[in-house]
Amino acid sequence: MFAINRKDAGTPAAQGESVTLSIDGAEVTVPAGTSIMRAAAAAGGAIPKLCATDTLKAFGSCRVCLVEVEGQRGFPASCTTLVAPGMKVKTESDKLRQLRKGVVELYVSDHPLNCKGCPADTHCELQSVAADLGVTTSPYGFEGANHQAAPCDDSNPYFQFDPSLCIACSRCVRACDEVQGTFALTIEGRGFESRVVASQDEPFLESECVSCGACIESCPTAALIEKPLAIMGRPDKAVTTTCAYCGVGCSFEAEVKGEEVVRMVPSRDGKANRGHACVKGRFAYGYATHADRITTPMIRKQVTDPWQPVSWDEAFKYAAAEFRRIQAQYGRESVGGITSSRCTNEESFLVQKLVRAALGTNNVDTCARVCHSPTGYGLKHTLGESAGTQAFDSVMKSDVIFVIGANPTDGHPVFASRMKRRLREGARLIVADPRAIDLVRSPHVQADFHLPLRPGTNVALINSIAHVVVTEGLVNEAYVAERCEPAPFQKWRDFVSQPRNSPEALAEVTGVPADLVRGAARLYATGGNGAIYYGLGVTEHSQGSTMVLGIANLAMATGNIGREGVGVNPLRGQNNVQGSCDMGSFPHELAGYRHVSDASTRALFGAEWGVQLEPEPGLRIPNMFEAALDGSFKAMYVQGEDMAQSDPNTQHVTAALSALECLVVQDLFLNETAKYAHVFFPGSSFLEKDGTFTNAERRISRVRKVMQPLAGLADWEATVGFARALGYEMNYSHPSEIMDEIARLTPTFTGVSYDKLDRLGSIQWPCNDAAPDGTPTMHIGEFVRGKGRFYVTEYVPTSERVNVRFPLILTTGRVLTQYNVGAQTRRTPNSQWYEEDVLEIHPQDAEDRGIGTGDWVGVTSRAGETVLRATVTERVQPGVVYTTFHFPDSGANVITTENSDWATNCPEYKVTAVQAVKVQRPSDWQRRFREQNEQQLGLLRGAGAHARSPR
Ligand code: SF4
Ligand code: SF4
Ligand code: SF4
Ligand code: FES
Repeated sequence: MFAINRKDAGTPAAQGESVTLSIDGAEVTVPAGTSIMRAAAAAGGAIPKLCATDTLKAFGSCRVCLVEVEGQRGFPASCTTLVAPGMKVKTESDKLRQLRKGVVELYVSDHPLNCKGCPADTHCELQSVAADLGVTTSPYGFEGANHQAAPCDDSNPYFQFDPSLCIACSRCVRACDEVQGTFALTIEGRGFESRVVASQDEPFLESECVSCGACIESCPTAALIEKPLAIMGRPDKAVTTTCAYCGVGCSFEAEVKGEEVVRMVPSRDGKANRGHACVKGRFAYGYATHADRITTPMIRKQVTDPWQPVSWDEAFKYAAAEFRRIQAQYGRESVGGITSSRCTNEESFLVQKLVRAALGTNNVDTCARVCHSPTGYGLKHTLGESAGTQAFDSVMKSDVIFVIGANPTDGHPVFASRMKRRLREGARLIVADPRAIDLVRSPHVQADFHLPLRPGTNVALINSIAHVVVTEGLVNEAYVAERCEPAPFQKWRDFVSQPRNSPEALAEVTGVPADLVRGAARLYATGGNGAIYYGLGVTEHSQGSTMVLGIANLAMATGNIGREGVGVNPLRGQNNVQGSCDMGSFPHELAGYRHVSDASTRALFGAEWGVQLEPEPGLRIPNMFEAALDGSFKAMYVQGEDMAQSDPNTQHVTAALSALECLVVQDLFLNETAKYAHVFFPGSSFLEKDGTFTNAERRISRVRKVMQPLAGLADWEATVGFARALGYEMNYSHPSEIMDEIARLTPTFTGVSYDKLDRLGSIQWPCNDAAPDGTPTMHIGEFVRGKGRFYVTEYVPTSERVNVRFPLILTTGRVLTQYNVGAQTRRTPNSQWYEEDVLEIHPQDAEDRGIGTGDWVGVTSRAGETVLRATVTERVQPGVVYTTFHFPDSGANVITTENSDWATNCPEYKVTAVQAVKVQRPSDWQRRFREQNEQQLGLLRGAGAHARSPR
């Protein structure tokens, strides 16, 4: 159904040469391949339509859009008839009106215009077409066979399907196929019997539907509609903002009534999502007003004390006094802070500024440490910039798509839909993943090569692919000679061409048959535009940085960087991972990835901030934990990160948190980390503040306030308050002023401002004098560092080995409906699809252990033990088990170890040697966890400080 302010040209835009024709006597010029319907819209007219919409290919079923074309017999459908030079079209005549009226009267006989009270009233396309044609009732009467009594399917928690309002236009079916790529819907039957069915005629909830909402978006009536819209009625305004879940960074119109969100409609102008969305961004926003939200600042002396609700001022003063006391007692370096990849750029910038300028230390780090820090290292060293090289649109020009260690259909669903569309158009696909992820085989998509490598052997695999490229003469010699440093390239070439790096020699290590590796390497190197997309399956390893170097080497060697359709593209996990890194959240870098040891950079920031900055890098998160345990690190300000759930080796993390004398947590909920806190600053959701997020394609997009902060202050305002209490003045009246400061200090952001963002919609950095409107594709002509640099990537097996005691490898990931630690999605109906973390185990390993689906399984590693329910599946290979970490008490990170990437300390989440045995009861850790959880919730309730119900 129509979103607020949406115009629909009827059919998609075309790209051909210009064609001039006449429509109702007026000349119009459009690209060849354009439909008459779209040409008429371009000329300012509107031909009535029902089965057409400009996001879907024309279908030509409703026959409402008929026109007359001079010299042609009959009345062609304007949606399926393409323009031709000199064509003369008439869109209005008595005959046309009569024909259209007849069609609409037929529709109305089965869909009476009882519009009053219908949620689509005034926004229904049938209603509008009928009104234009003067149809108010049907001459055929309403007594005959009809669908008026067909029951409504309200099984899906977010939307309903009312067949009595369906006009069988099949827009929903085509949206599911063409936009989403799930193929969950069909029109069953013919003629009057035609009806929409999900999967094998199942309720939506039980079908293959993934609740992306594309079908609702395309439905011209209220047959498919969001439940809140049906209940709350039409919104009164729309605010353009950006999704706060994953790194795709979808743009939405938040449609609001008063201060309540009625629905989130993906923006057609959104350059990251082009009008599409997934179940999280479109529907799972209810956490923002969940009763668990804490909306009052709180303090306590000991973590065993009840929380005491206080004013913001008291909370700031208490935290500041504690930080100053601790610094006086234990030294300036005994404190630090963590920025959040969930919060805005401006908020991350302020937290690192507070740590460096107000606390006088570089002890600041970010949760990107535990996901994509190797990306920063690897891409900076090889290409010169710590970011992906392309815009998402670029994938539509790729010929070969190589997905490594990423599961886009679950982790980055909107981009996955775009990728699948390109694959259906004929692009070829290589997937390197230990699991048979959905992309390997899904409707109308099949990988040409699936390389099911053993977890932990990425570098061996990339070396064997490079070996094939080098030894089979597939290097793009001209590109390398022109664009890369010759000596490091030669060193790399000599290294990878050694027989020990051949696919045959490394098959034993990777578990991937050599012929598959050779086939994949040849395809990537010779198949046209080759684009690599990778995720945490690349970075979260002891050799994560080496693998990123290896990926960049391969792309440079084959000439696959520096134009559309190619590139090296990290798929970022959280909404603002890219941004939090850009903003100077790492202990060794100021905003724009400039090292703190650089005197001129320090002088620039020092002058702006009125302080002397320290030249030595501060502590990384794991070092902070070590220092807390050895007694030299005593206080931490954590904005929007739940380390007690998300970081590896939970027991080590919680021991470190317990050793702190002052832990300040700023969050929406009493998360796992907050259970060890002494001060709680209530956080604000993305709906409650202004700011910007930067997505995986370096796209900076505005976040706009839809409602007032429930706790009275947005996160950036709380950081300002804390800084002031520390005696460091920060003066901002709006986040746009923080962005102005970032732009003053950061060469890649000098051209960014809120005004420009409002004008352009979004901007991909670098944005400066050289690129005033931003940079969709990087490294065109030359690399940011000048010449690209190859690195030798020796494979060093992880020390985390399987043995008799721990014979299986555990690897971790995520699912579509839950997000990260689950704090948001667990508080929405998304849990109906995934209500607990499970352990995937191969049938052979399950049989050896007498384990069946649904059994409780004790999973033990060198770090700890937890208990999960089993799912026996061939998605995992023998010897490998898999789980997610969306639920705190499943304790997935109780078993992951502290092994980490050699260069960046990114944890090796993807490789843990474990044993799995059938058990009957929770682990000791789980029992302790539940007790502590109860105790902490009691302390919250007992103090009467629990969140007031926000509404
Ligand atoms: S919600 Fe998405 S996946 Fe489900 S039927 Fe509609 S288009 Fe298909
Ligand atoms: S549900 Fe809506 S989009 Fe689908 S066929 Fe019916 S009217 Fe058309
Ligand atoms: S794909 Fe990512 S950014 Fe887009 S709606 Fe889904 S969660 Fe949000
Ligand atoms: S809109 Fe053209 S046939 Fe339906």
